[in-house]
Amino acid sequence: MKAMEVRLNVNGEAKQWTIAPGDLLLDVLRREGYFGVKRGCEAGECGACTVLLDGKPINSCLMFAAQAEGADVLTIEGVAHGSTLHPLQEAFLDHGAVQCGFCTPAMILNAKALLDRKPHPSEEEVREALAGTYCRCTGFRKPVEAVLAAAGAKR
Ligand code: FES
Ligand code: FES
Repeated sequence: MKAMEVRLNVNGEAKQWTIAPGDLLLDVLRREGYFGVKRGCEAGECGACTVLLDGKPINSCLMFAAQAEGADVLTIEGVAHGSTLHPLQEAFLDHGAVQCGFCTPAMILNAKALLDRKPHPSEEEVREALAGTYCRCTGFRKPVEAVLAAAGAKR
């Protein structure tokens, strides 16, 4: 297959990568070392591969890397500022909401997209934002509490 170039910003850094036209964004990100983007179902069902594309959560397993030309991509690696964690990450730690490496990055990115759009969401809105991340291990109570705490919401 013919190679092509894609230019995009990942976590605030300009990147130019050689890809095949059929490469998935998920595969290219992991190939480039963004291992916080997880490969789960590869069918748009589990949400483990979530990244923010121009601020909106998308399943990177359903998108060709070529379609990200010119976009701003945020992965979990770019959420903290150096050694300073994002308030959502602090809240997840404080509330015992860090569950596993597959669902937690996606939950934090989905929560970030929500809080960026709506700084003080209702519990219902938080639950809706996290619903695209599949987990039948522990439930969503602690992550929901963490997101509400990060939003400064009174319970
Ligand atoms: S790996 Fe993309 S939604 Fe499951
Ligand atoms: S998928 Fe991470 S705890 Fe269930």
